[in-house]
Amino acid sequence: MTVREILHVGNLLLRQRSREVTPAELATPIVQELIDDLIDTMRAANGAGIAAPQVGELLRIATIEVRDNPRYPYKPRIPLTVVVNPIIQPLDDEVVDVNEGCLSVPNLRGNVLRHVNVRVRWLDREGTPHDEVRRGLTAGTFQHECDHLDGVLFLDRVHDTRTLTTWEQFERFHRDAFVARISEFVQRVGS
Ligand code: NI
Repeated sequence: MTVREILHVGNLLLRQRSREVTPAELATPIVQELIDDLIDTMRAANGAGIAAPQVGELLRIATIEVRDNPRYPYKPRIPLTVVVNPIIQPLDDEVVDVNEGCLSVPNLRGNVLRHVNVRVRWLDREGTPHDEVRRGLTAGTFQHECDHLDGVLFLDRVHDTRTLTTWEQFERFHRDAFVARISEFVQRVGS
């Protein structure tokens, strides 16, 4: 149980492709402890997710969880999910314009387009395979974390740099309009 230091944008490790984890490796104490540390670090930072490269480990592992989150009060809940070697496939062309932030990009948010309906395949921490559909903002969260495993940050996907904003200015100028729009979306899509 350790809260690890989160690497920030500019650190070259965030720009590497992380490698797959073998089933034998997944069962080792060192990888299981890394998963525990990711969960602790994500929760301590109030993140909706965190990926192993964000703590400097170039393995294809991420954790996702949304409870009552002060960073993202409009986000639907997501039970704790540990994804190992995830593969994401969009199911159609529908996208949503989402205001995102990232624990590795302190105090900055911006708008990115995310697929609304995705198929995600992964192994859980016991090595059990999953093949499920994720929709709406939850699909966006999965895409954000999987991007980290390929060295991609949300900044790379910001389609209009004029949407970039600090948290303080987001609250001041953008929050109400975004929450109104995205709440309508969440009601329509359901997750
Ligand atoms: Ni992130």
